[in-house]
Amino acid sequence: MMSNMRPTGKLALQTIAMPADTNANGDIFGGWLVSLMDMAAGIEAKQRAKSRVVTVAIDSLVFLKPVNVGDTVTCYAELVKVGKTSLQFKMEVWTTSFIEEHTKQVAQGLFTFVAINEARKPHPVDRT
Ligand SMILES: CC(C)(COP(=O)(O)OP(=O)(O)OC[C@H]1O[C@@H](n2cnc3c(N)ncnc32)[C@H](O)[C@@H]1OP(=O)(O)O)[C@@H](O)C(=O)NCCC(=O)NCCS
Repeated sequence: MMSNMRPTGKLALQTIAMPADTNANGDIFGGWLVSLMDMAAGIEAKQRAKSRVVTVAIDSLVFLKPVNVGDTVTCYAELVKVGKTSLQFKMEVWTTSFIEEHTKQVAQGLFTFVAINEARKPHPVDRT
C-alpha cells in the first residue's frame, strides 16, 4: 500500500519504542501502536469537544511498515469529520530511526470519538 511522503495532520503524541513494547518475537507489538494512536486521537478529541470523550470505533487500520526498538514514534491527527456528537480523526504514525536517519509512515487509521456528559450519554459537539 502506498503511503504519503510527509505526515498530514497535527503532531499529537511522540514517544520512543522500548524493549517493553515488543511481542514474543521481539518485534514491536501492534497493539501498543494502536494504543498510542487511540491516546493521541483522544487528546485531540478531548481538546476539540471540550468534554469527556470515548472511542466508539476504529476503522481502516493498516500497519504499513515494522517499528524497531529505539525508533522515535510520532502520531499525527487530522480531524476529518464532525458529527452531532462524534469526531473522526485520520491518524498517521511515523517513525524516525536516528541510526538510519530515515523517516517513514508505519501505520494509519480512522478513529471516531463520541463526546459524553457526566451520565456517559452522548452530547453535541460544537460543529463550527
Ligand atoms: C459511545 C457511546 C456513548 C455511544 O452511545 P450510543 O447510545 O450508541 O449513541 P448514538 O447511537 O447516539 O451514537 C452517538 C454517535 O456515535 C456514532 N457511532 C455509533 N456507533 C458508531 C460506529 N460503529 N462507528 C462510527 N460512529 C459510530 C453515531 O453515528 C453518533 O454520531 P453523531 O451523533 O455524530 O451522528 C456508547 O456506545 C459507549 O459508551 N460505548 C463504549 C465506549 C468505550 O467505552 N470506549 C472505550 C473502549 S475500551
